[in-house]
Parts: sequence; structure tokens; C-alpha cells
Amino acid sequence: MMESHRSSCLLTFVLALSTVSHCHQNATKPPNIIFILADDYGFHDVGYHGSAIKTPWLDKLAAEGVKLENYYVQPICTPTRSQLMSGRYQIHTGLEHWIIWDVQPNCLPLEDVTVADKLKELGYATHAVGKWHLGFYKKDCWPTRRGFDTFFGYYTGSEDYFTHSRGCGMPGFNCSGFKSGLDFRDQELPMHNYTGSYSTHVFAQRAQQILENHNPKEPFFLYLPFQAVHSPLQVPEKYIEPYKHIADKHRRIYSGMVACMDEAIGNITQTATQLGLWDNTVLIFSTDNGGQIHKGGNNWPLRGWKTSLWEGGIHGVGFVHSPLIPKSLQGTSSKEMIHVSDWFPTLVAGVAGGHLEGLKLDGFNVWQTISQGKASPRKEILHNIDPIPYPRLDQHGDFYPDPYFSYHSNLPSSFNTTIRAAIRVGDWKLLTGDPGNSSWIPPPDSGIIPIHPVEQKGKHVWLFNIQEDPNEYHDLSEARPDKVKELVGRLQYYYNSLVPPFYPPGDPRANPALHGDIWTNWE
Ligand SMILES: *[C@@H]1O[C@H](CO)[C@@H](O)[C@H](O)[C@H]1NC(C)=O
Ligand SMILES: *[C@@H]1O[C@H](CO)[C@@H](O)[C@H](O)[C@H]1NC(C)=O
Ligand SMILES: *[C@@H]1O[C@H](CO)[C@@H](O)[C@H](O)[C@H]1NC(C)=O
Ligand SMILES: *[C@@H]1O[C@H](CO)[C@@H](O)[C@H](O)[C@H]1NC(C)=O
Ligand SMILES: *[C@@H]1O[C@H](CO)[C@@H](O)[C@H](O)[C@H]1NC(C)=O
Ligand SMILES: *[C@@H]1O[C@H](CO)[C@@H](O)[C@H](O)[C@H]1NC(C)=O
Repeated sequence: MMESHRSSCLLTFVLALSTVSHCHQNATKPPNIIFILADDYGFHDVGYHGSAIKTPWLDKLAAEGVKLENYYVQPICTPTRSQLMSGRYQIHTGLEHWIIWDVQPNCLPLEDVTVADKLKELGYATHAVGKWHLGFYKKDCWPTRRGFDTFFGYYTGSEDYFTHSRGCGMPGFNCSGFKSGLDFRDQELPMHNYTGSYSTHVFAQRAQQILENHNPKEPFFLYLPFQAVHSPLQVPEKYIEPYKHIADKHRRIYSGMVACMDEAIGNITQTATQLGLWDNTVLIFSTDNGGQIHKGGNNWPLRGWKTSLWEGGIHGVGFVHSPLIPKSLQGTSSKEMIHVSDWFPTLVAGVAGGHLEGLKLDGFNVWQTISQGKASPRKEILHNIDPIPYPRLDQHGDFYPDPYFSYHSNLPSSFNTTIRAAIRVGDWKLLTGDPGNSSWIPPPDSGIIPIHPVEQKGKHVWLFNIQEDPNEYHDLSEARPDKVKELVGRLQYYYNSLVPPFYPPGDPRANPALHGDIWTNWE
């Protein structure tokens, strides 16, 4: 009997796309939302970007949906998640410097309303399955207290895929005396009985259970931030079988991890279809940042990788699939500018028909861009401004923050180009300070030779026309001082509203040994 409601809603929804859908105000309900966030999934690692890794489900869903080919995320985990959840740039949440480490007393500021809070207000059942990584040092930071009815997964940034435990790690923090701890929960309860079960399987199964137990009278928001395909490189052997020929061990295992994630997405899609939920569902797929080339990921032909402000760190894989998108737009690619901070207003106002009054958002509602092919309301993206210097290189050439930096030290009163920052304005992109390693790294099995540019000492300004030069080969900073000046002006504009980074020292009280060998709150 729900069927007739659903199809009349669907019709209302499609007809109403030219204005704004309010079908939830009727007896019918707004669309379900499935948001899948892959971890460290590289630009080159999806079949439809020419990868040797096979991703039949992602390819099919993207081919029937709208591929987002001018889509940006942040270069590392916590920042992307913070913007997805809050719709705000990191310079407005104090999270502009690096990730939240497991021992840091920090989380997404509690005054920030989350997209889950808003969707819950609109009558959605809200579920999170997978990785949180937005802080857990006190209970108020936990996903179950940030708008999610249910949570199943882990709080930290990475862990073993089978034991679901992790050791202590934060550059510059003395972890001696720390024990490793379990980080796996159902609701708020630690779960010891998933040892030996691979997280991609476990998360897919939980997602399927949520769909099966769902009350069809309510819309749902299923946020599914997979552990895959972040390091450690682990996957059941059978997924590596088809990739035996890949000589590079990291790439070989990573390929299997991608294959397993793709299968999981296929399973969830099939379950949603069998349950009759798919017709009124919007599926969003996104990576959280560029691939980590030292852990199997790849972003070829883009420059740089995870952690850097080069395109390889931030130009993300993403698409939207939904039967609610008009047929004429299904199977198209959008070149409109879309950023991860846009999902909050897009889901709340665009998809669910809610309002955004009283919220201070940096994101734009791009639902009409995706579902009607309209021009994006977004004309620029602040990729980031991080006023804390990055003086160190680890053995992989990744930049690590100075552990001894005092986070309450005085910041320069105005922006200057030695500060690590990047901004996109129209077709133009400016990078300042130290953006991270700038090599072009092809997939290890491709036979293509990596390109390592000679780094000019003291250089800290680069300008590119990304539309004409998406791979950042031609620095135009000397040829176009006018554009440099204009974009520095925009960075100065944003710098004026910057909340100083909150990057507290690690806290010995985080030690799992003090909490029954579990990573949990310590305040
Ligand atoms: C659905 O809700 C809209 C907005 O409140 C209203 O204009 C419309 O008449 C309603 N449609 C039905 C079928 O009740
Ligand atoms: C780390 O702390 C331990 C004692 O807890 C101490 O013995 C060791 O020297 C410290 N290491 C460093 C590098 O400070
Ligand atoms: C683990 O234990 C929980 C709670 O006791 C139970 O609901 C769940 O089904 C168990 N899962 C597995 C895989 O054993
Ligand atoms: C997908 O479903 C099949 C059939 O139930 C199952 O064997 C497989 O393990 C599932 N894969 C994942 C990744 O969950
Ligand atoms: C520019 O910013 C750096 C921080 O990256 C700061 O140390 C320096 O003092 C600033 N220079 C000026 C002239 O303000
Ligand atoms: C950048 O990383 C690549 C790959 O690890 C390395 O070969 C290269 O030397 C690094 N460049 C610099 C300037 O450190």
C-alpha cells in the first residue's frame, strides 16, 4: 500500500523539480539518501576513469547517474568529514590543521549542527555505518549524539580491518606506555565479537539490515563511510586473485580492497532495489580525499596525492545516482563546480525540502545543478588556509605538522603567501606556502615513468588555469600577476574570518590501557 504513495510522491517530486519539492508535507515522503564515502580512494582507481581495477558496480551506477567531474574534497580525512557533516569550511571550525589524532582532546565543535541533525528534524531515520573520525574524547562528540539514531563502526581514523583495534599514533607524541585498543561499536557499546570479520563485509551487512528493518513510512539517511580503501592493506585473499599479475604488492592488495568495496556497494544496491526502496532513493558516492600513493592508491594523471593541495589530493571521484533524476540527465557528466561542503545544504534543502535558516554555511545547494543541469551557484572554493607551518618531511616525503607548535601562538594579523593555502576562483587556482609533494605518479603497473619536478627553493606561489591545465603542468604565476593578486585578495578575505586552528597536544589519559583496552572518551 505504500507503493501508490511512493509513486505519487515520485511524480510530484519530478514535476516539482523546477521549483522546490515539498512532497514530505503531503502524505508522501521525501527521498531516502544513501551517502557512501570511500576512504583514500584515488582519482585513477575507478573503472570509468580508466583504471585497471575493475569496479563494475560503481561504473554502472555512475553511468546511469550524473558523474561529478569538477568535484572537490579536502586532502585528508577529518577535514572532508567535518565539511560534509557541518557544511562549513575548516577555517570556520578550527579544524584547518591536519586530522584529529586518537589522543587529541578535540572534535567537530559541538555548536555546529550536523546534516544528520537537520535530516532527523525533517523526519528522517538517520544511520551511520563505518568510520567517524570527528573526535570522541567526550561522549557529546559521538555520532549517536551528533544526529544519528544509530551508529555501527569506529571512532578513530584507521585500524586493523579484522581485529578492529589500533595502537597509539600522533607525530611528536610519546606513545610509550600506550597499549593498543579495540575501536568498534554498536550504538555506544564496544563490540568484541567481530574479530576476524572483514570490515567491508560487516559494514555492508549492517547497511543491508538497516534497509530491511526500515519502516517504509519514514525516509532514511544512511551515511556509509567505509573503512575501505585506507591502509592497512588487508583484504580476504579471494579478492586479490584477479590481480595476481600486478607486481607491486601494495597496488595488488589495494586492487582487491577496491573490488570488495565495489561488491559491497552492489549488494546494498540490490537489497535496496529488492525492498522497493530504490525508486525513491538518492545515492551519492564520494571519496574523502585523493589516493595515498604509498598505500596502493593512485590519482594519475593528476599531480600530487593525499595530504597535498595539488589536484591529486583534492579533485575527488564522485557521482550521484537516482531514479528521481530526469532521464535526460541520466548518464551525463557534470562539469559544474561542486565541493564536499555543498552536500549539507544540497541534502537538507535540495533533496529533503528543508530550510537552512539560522545556519552559517559555506556550502551551496547544488541539487538543481545535479538534477536539472543548471549552472552551479558555486563560483569559488576555498581549498584551505592553514597558518600552522609544515616544517617536516617523513620518510615518504609526506609533510607532518610540527609537534612542538604551540596551537595558541599568535597568528600573523594578515594573510601572506608563505602560509599554506589554496583557492579556486572560476577556472583559476592559486597555491601558496608549501602545498606538499608535487610529483606526478602513474599507477605502478602502467609502465609510465613518474615525473618529479625540480623544486625551486623558496618558491611559494603557483597559479594554474585548471580548466585548460587540469594536471597543473603550467605555472602561470609569473605570466599573470594580476590573477595572483586577485586570488591572494580572496585568500585575505577568507583569512579575515579564520578561526585559529585548534590542534591540542596529545593527552596521556587517552591510553586504552586505562579504559579496559578500548579507545573511548576520557573526559
Ligand atoms: C502537497 O504539498 C504542497 C505544499 O504544501 C501543496 O501545495 C500541495 O497541494 C500538496 N499536494 C497534495 C496532493 O496534497
Ligand atoms: C617516552 O616516554 C618514556 C616514559 O614514558 C621515556 O622513557 C622515553 O624516553 C620517552 N621518549 C621520548 C622520545 O621522549
Ligand atoms: C555481537 O554481539 C552483539 C551483541 O551481543 C550481537 O547483537 C551481534 O549479533 C553479535 N555479532 C556477531 C557477529 O557475533
Ligand atoms: C555480497 O553478497 C554475497 C551474497 O550474499 C556475499 O557472499 C558477499 O560476501 C557479499 N559481499 C560483501 C562485500 O559484502
Ligand atoms: C607570514 O606568515 C608566516 C606564517 O606562515 C609568519 O611566520 C610570518 O611572520 C608572516 N610574515 C609577515 C610579514 O607577516
Ligand atoms: C616526492 O615524492 C616522490 C615519491 O615518493 C619522491 O620520489 C620525491 O623525491 C619527492 N619529492 C621531494 C621534493 O621530496
